[in-house]
Amino acid sequence: MTWWQRSVVYQIYPRSFLDSDGDGVGDLPGITSKLDYLHTLGVDVIWLCPVYPHGGVDGGYDITDYRNIAPEFGSLPDWKDLLAGLHARGMKLVMDLVVNHTSDQHPWFLEARRSTDNPYRDYYLWRPGEGGGPPSNWGSHFGGSAWQLDPATDEYYLHLFATEQPDLNWENPRVRREVYDLMTFWLDLGIDGFRMDTINMLSKVPGFPDTAPGADYAYPLAEEHFLNGPELLTYLREMRAEVLSKYDVMTVGETPGVSPDAAAVLTDPQTGPLNMIFQFDHMALDKDPASARPRWTTVPYSVPELKTVLGRWQTELHGRGWNSLYLSNHDVPRLVSRYGDDGASRVPSAKLLATLLFTLQGTPYVYQGDELGIPNAKFTSIDDYRDVDTLNLYREDVIEGGRDPAGVLEMIHNKGRDNARTPMPWTGGENAGFTTGTPWIPLNPTFRDINAETVLADPDSVYWYYRDLIRLRREHPSIVEGRYDDLRPEHPTLYAYLRTHAQEQLLVLLNFGGQALDLDGVLDIPANAALLLGNYAAPGEVPAGVLQPWEARVYVTRSAEEMGALD
Ligand code: GLC
Repeated sequence: MTWWQRSVVYQIYPRSFLDSDGDGVGDLPGITSKLDYLHTLGVDVIWLCPVYPHGGVDGGYDITDYRNIAPEFGSLPDWKDLLAGLHARGMKLVMDLVVNHTSDQHPWFLEARRSTDNPYRDYYLWRPGEGGGPPSNWGSHFGGSAWQLDPATDEYYLHLFATEQPDLNWENPRVRREVYDLMTFWLDLGIDGFRMDTINMLSKVPGFPDTAPGADYAYPLAEEHFLNGPELLTYLREMRAEVLSKYDVMTVGETPGVSPDAAAVLTDPQTGPLNMIFQFDHMALDKDPASARPRWTTVPYSVPELKTVLGRWQTELHGRGWNSLYLSNHDVPRLVSRYGDDGASRVPSAKLLATLLFTLQGTPYVYQGDELGIPNAKFTSIDDYRDVDTLNLYREDVIEGGRDPAGVLEMIHNKGRDNARTPMPWTGGENAGFTTGTPWIPLNPTFRDINAETVLADPDSVYWYYRDLIRLRREHPSIVEGRYDDLRPEHPTLYAYLRTHAQEQLLVLLNFGGQALDLDGVLDIPANAALLLGNYAAPGEVPAGVLQPWEARVYVTRSAEEMGALD
């Protein structure tokens, strides 16, 4: 096993972590001042969302300069201090690599749009219009057409995300060389890897063919024409050969729409160009695929469905490649609101979800604030939101489309990206201790009760439970290496699985829901299984044969004989 298979990653959204200079925006010195908080939690690797100069449209994912730090986040020397502080504590730093697109303010694009014969023209994807409209019906992820007419040359450019995020042309070897060089720049500064943004969108199907018309929007997502495209593996293998193979670093690709088989190719230990990927199957469970905008919908799903999806990745990738484990990030709602209960059972359900995250096979990712058990923000006014995706939805649906604002706000409450982007609550005091100025986005209204100060002072808090789980994961190789077996796939609320490795077997019991569950007749816990960790009972205790609402338990059995008892 490699260091990145044994690691736990903590994701930082710098804008919202901690502001050290009072401008209302989190920054690098803010992060550096909290390294002991992260070290105590026990995480090994920090993934830093983009801190480069940017166009101000998509939270840093619209880059204007790949080799510098945006002034609001600090400077390159500040960044070097952060890296040194991490390395001094034995921790590592992973940077965000956003190379499917740039900002439209990037010097390459400013050049490219000047004329059709500009040397940078071919860095991007340009096409003439068709019948007075865009070249094809492809929609952008953030609404509207994925093609934007540029009046200077009367041609359209492709942008799979915001209009201000033109897609790079990966068929152009000069573009690929630029990317390899910028990667080398950061690697030579001593970073420990890359999280690769939307990396399986680099290769588009030639000709940009139309996709099937969407339900009630003119421009559907043409995923079959840009996810896992024909040249993707060629590009990523070249990237590995030219750059990554020369360093001991980790890579994780953001790859919507991949199957375990495709993931096995991408992350094969010998031939795979990446170390691990983010798959999205469990993110789709509560979406309505028949809707025009599935990701904004919320539909019920069953616990067996969740088990099927997670279990499929556990078994089909085992021994073939490597997965990452996540239940939240800066693009999705807070996990306790989405998969748990953010009301009366907020704390036990946050702990249960953490138990799941840390006891499956794969590298776990903790998104900032989840270790505090923060729920969704649910602002009552659209004026409090900042995310381009959310504001575009509101504009298209309410302002232009005349839909009921309350219904659209509810979608935003459930699925909006700003749920995860509110400032980290460090204290219950002014501005949650995040800034001495005015925060760039309002605070989560729960900050007076749910903040780092309160949580650190409470030995039973979500934070300390995360710390215990991270330790547990380190001490039990069966979690990293073992086989996974779902014991009761059909049960409507019990998620029970084994993690089996050499002479050790772990039994994980998760009661997914607000009802107590009597295990009698459902599952026998072997008499000599020892409780390692639970969110109700203490290690070493013999808890009752009834699981409390959202109760989670991790047991260990050691001898081969005992292991047989559960097979
Ligand atoms: C990824 C990022 C997201 C961003 C998008 C475009 O999905 O995680 O935040 O908006 O790519 O770069």
